[in-house]
Amino acid sequence: MNTKIRFRPQRLRANEILRNLSSETTLNPNDLIYPIFIKSQISRKKEILSMPGVFQHTINSAIDEIKSAVDLGLNSFLLFGIPDKKDNIGSSAFSDNGIIQKSLAQIKKEINDVFLITDLCMCEYTSHGHCGILKDNKLDNDETLNMIKKQALSHLKFGSDMIAPSGMIDGAVKILRESFDKNNFKNSPIMSYSAKYASSFYGPFRFAAESSPEFGDRKTYQMNPANKKEALKEVLLDVKEGADIVMIKPALSYLDIISDVKKAVNVPLAAYNVSGEYAMVKAAAKMNLIEEDHVRNEILLSIKRAGADMIISYFAKDYAKSI
Ligand code: PBG
Repeated sequence: MNTKIRFRPQRLRANEILRNLSSETTLNPNDLIYPIFIKSQISRKKEILSMPGVFQHTINSAIDEIKSAVDLGLNSFLLFGIPDKKDNIGSSAFSDNGIIQKSLAQIKKEINDVFLITDLCMCEYTSHGHCGILKDNKLDNDETLNMIKKQALSHLKFGSDMIAPSGMIDGAVKILRESFDKNNFKNSPIMSYSAKYASSFYGPFRFAAESSPEFGDRKTYQMNPANKKEALKEVLLDVKEGADIVMIKPALSYLDIISDVKKAVNVPLAAYNVSGEYAMVKAAAKMNLIEEDHVRNEILLSIKRAGADMIISYFAKDYAKSI
C-alpha cells in the first residue's frame, strides 16, 4: 500500500451526486435548437433516408412535431423550407405563398410560446442549387444581398422570431440590420452563420433539403476547413455589422474554432451539430458499434464544453427525451 499519495482527484468522482456538483458543463433542452424541414405540396411526412428519425414535414405534421418537442421542454426551432417550384432567382423564397411564409403563419396561430428561427438561404429555392444569384455561373454576392433582404423581410412579416443568414454572403448582416431597422423590425435579432465551412458533413442535409448544387461546389463562398484565423475575421466582422448571435458550423470537427471564438467575442455563440455528424452516429448505432444515447450525449456535451452557448441539433428531441 502506498500511503504517500497526497493528491487524489478521484475523490470528486466517487458518486453521482458529487460528480454532478463538480460538473463544469451542463446541457439542458433550453440550450438546444431543433431543425424542422417543411416541404410544400406533399400529403404526408416522409422520413429522410440519410437521417433516420428526421422527416420532410407537411405544415400539419410539422406542427405536431413541434408540439411534441415543446412537451419535452424544447422551445426553439430552426425552419427550412422545400418549395415545389424552383427557378433561377429562387423567387419562391420571398413569395407570400412560400412554404416558410405559410408555415410561420400557421405555426404561430396554433402554438404559443415557441421561438421560430428561419434559415435565410437561397439554395433550396434556386434551380441551380447555389446560395444566391449567379452571373456567368458564379455567385454574384451583391445581387444576392438584394434577394436575401427580400427573403428576410418576408419571413419577418409572417412571424419569424429570428433570421439566420446562412449563405456566407459578404455584407449580409450589415444589409439585413439596416433594412430591419428601416422597416419596423428593429427588435428582430440576427443569428449569423458567421464561420460556415465548405464541409462534406452537409451531405445528408442536401438530400433532406433537396439543395445540392447542380454543378460545382460551395468553396468560393463557404470557408476553407484549413483556416482558423479566418473564422475569427468572419465572426468579428459579423459582430461589427450587428449580429446578435454568431455561429460556427459544423461543430464536431471544429471544436477548436468554437473554443477560440468563445474567447474572442462577447455575443452568444451557437454551434451547428450538422447532418453528417448526426447520420454517422445513427449509422454506427444501427450496426451496434456504439451506444447511441451515450455517444450522442457525449458529443453534445463536448460542443457545449468547447464554448457553445446553444446547439442546433437533429438530436434535440432524442436528448430531451433522454433526461
Ligand atoms: C444552407 C444550409 C446548409 C445547412 C444549413 N443551412 C447546407 C449547405 O450549406 O450546403 C447544412 C446543415 C446540415 O448539414 O445539417 N441552406
